[in-house]
Amino acid sequence: MAQRQVIKMGNPILARIAAPVEWFGTAVLDELITDLWDTMAAEGGIGIAAPQIGESVRLVVFGLADEPRGPCAETIAPTVLINPVITPLADEVELGWEGCLSVPGMRGQVPRFNQIRYSGFDASGNTFSRDVSGYHARVVQHECDHLDGILYPQRMSDLSSFGFNDEIERAMMARLGAGNAGAASDDPDSETR
Ligand code: NI
Repeated sequence: MAQRQVIKMGNPILARIAAPVEWFGTAVLDELITDLWDTMAAEGGIGIAAPQIGESVRLVVFGLADEPRGPCAETIAPTVLINPVITPLADEVELGWEGCLSVPGMRGQVPRFNQIRYSGFDASGNTFSRDVSGYHARVVQHECDHLDGILYPQRMSDLSSFGFNDEIERAMMARLGAGNAGAASDDPDSETR
């Protein structure tokens, strides 16, 4: 039960293929899940993957109980997802802003499948599956990429939107100030994972 240190891009643990969890119903797993929630809350993220606190296992947590976040102001129920499998349900890919607790202070636009099914195990070792879209689907794809050693900049098709939060926000405010109403749809959420 503790906030753990989040490791950052460049640490080789973040580039590894994480190992499946095989120890359901143990105190070690419960403690790891608690540490992930505590660390995510302390860092202000909407999701976190075990490798980000140095534990190279296939476990992510995401969601917020009551605080809508993201471009759609969508609430994602707090979820523990272990040994996940993601299946795209349609070919449609959307660009959207992402940040990452392991790439602090930066964001970029990342293409992701708009509709996916994810399945896996909960903390008790029970299987479950959900069909989701939009921001929820984006969060899950981002978190599960961490389990395969992939950080969101590696998913970007165009690095021209990659930059520092303060500069991007300043540029957007300038565009809005210039009367470019169309810029509102680009408004990046301050999401960090
Ligand atoms: Ni991340």
